[in-house]
Amino acid sequence: MELFIPDYVENILYRLEKFGYEAFIVGGSVRDLILGKEPADFDITTNAKPEEIEEIFKEYKTILVGKEYGTVVVVQDEGNIEVTTYRLEAEYLDGRKPSKVYFSDEIEEDLSRRDFTINAMAYNKSKGLIDLFSGQKDLENKLIKTVGNPIERFEEDHLRILRAIRFATQLGFYIEEETKNSCTQMGYLLKKISAERIREELFKILLSDRPSYGIRLMEDLDILEIIIPELKETVGFDQKNPHHEKDVFEHILCVVDHTPPVLEIRLAALFHDIGKPHTLTIDEEGIGHFYGHDKLGVKMSRDILKRLRCPNEMIDDVANLIKEHMTHHADLKDKGLKRLISRVGKDKIFNLIELQKADKRCSNRNADIGFLFERERQIQRILDRNEPYEKKQLEISGYDIINLGYKEGKIVGEILEYLMERVIDEPNLNHRDILIDMVLKKFTNKAK
Ligand code: CTP
Repeated sequence: MELFIPDYVENILYRLEKFGYEAFIVGGSVRDLILGKEPADFDITTNAKPEEIEEIFKEYKTILVGKEYGTVVVVQDEGNIEVTTYRLEAEYLDGRKPSKVYFSDEIEEDLSRRDFTINAMAYNKSKGLIDLFSGQKDLENKLIKTVGNPIERFEEDHLRILRAIRFATQLGFYIEEETKNSCTQMGYLLKKISAERIREELFKILLSDRPSYGIRLMEDLDILEIIIPELKETVGFDQKNPHHEKDVFEHILCVVDHTPPVLEIRLAALFHDIGKPHTLTIDEEGIGHFYGHDKLGVKMSRDILKRLRCPNEMIDDVANLIKEHMTHHADLKDKGLKRLISRVGKDKIFNLIELQKADKRCSNRNADIGFLFERERQIQRILDRNEPYEKKQLEISGYDIINLGYKEGKIVGEILEYLMERVIDEPNLNHRDILIDMVLKKFTNKAK
């Protein structure tokens, strides 16, 4: 088998070999090349020790990531390459990272400590593919299978349990039976893993072509209740409403799959109805309603995203989409839409529409989403015409109002609110002179 290695990577392999060492590309890059995908990055494994790697690349810019882990990053314009000494990890005391790393002289030992067979192959031009654990066959059979005993691999690094689900989702693969059973058996150990590492895997699942596959796998393998117990409550939750064909969990999965792969939208899709199990009321006709589930969803999703240590800006964006997700029910004319743009923001308004399209589409098979495409066009028209929808677009500011003699404080806000309301109705009023005139007429003696 011959795999295509770009020149800037080949150059590093060549240099290591010229100095008498072995060197291979390894892991994800080999997997992706065999699959015909472009690797996101290339990792190299070698029997050269970290000091030797540094010496060989002393004319290059290098970064020693951690001498004890044996990784030297070689920086090149085309991309950074991690060059790591063959290693044998031992004694994972806490199931998170090895307490001590032992370097090895054998590529076989390095490959045998890796997580999955499809990630445990190495390649270079002279030796070809080194595939000791039938990774290539598992790639053909679309199988995620640990190298050796899954219990041992998962004990070494518990995150691998979630990685199995992540790779299965990204690649559309199955998890081999024994590996799968060990995921369920050892899933509780994920509680020991840092929120950041869990978050990164979860985000990769969410950004894949079919996130529902991964979320369903989490549920099937009893991992969901460990990572996001709030979602577990939606499983099988009957909405008792003719407008909603699916239970809450199935609806959420459908919405996530039907949104574009933008993290904030996918997160909002995942959590938009998370408040439903706590807000169900049933009317006289036996129909279910979920008043306030959007508000509760905002609070719950904020808590979850905080727990996952997401940045505040991301939390706010997701919360805002969830807060507004029910506005597709309202019959909004230009004025209402401008208010909506001002609440959601010009940059995020189309994300909201995408969420709403998916939400509506997944409610029942007869759902008509044409009005949301029309709403999208209407919003675009408002933005194209540059019609004001928020106070900072007014041709007059709070300072101007104070300069007219009004007292700093509440009244300034009231005046701006009044002007905004009028300008939203009649954009032609947005001229300084006209606005000043309006203020003086309407707020004659008030608080001057
Ligand atoms: N690896 C491992 N156990 C882990 C993490 C990583 O054995 N817990 C090994 C695997 O051989 C993996 C390689 O290190 O292929 C690189 O890991 P990573 O960069 O996380 O994943 P990739 O396989 O490169 O996949 P991607 O970049 O698509 O996430």
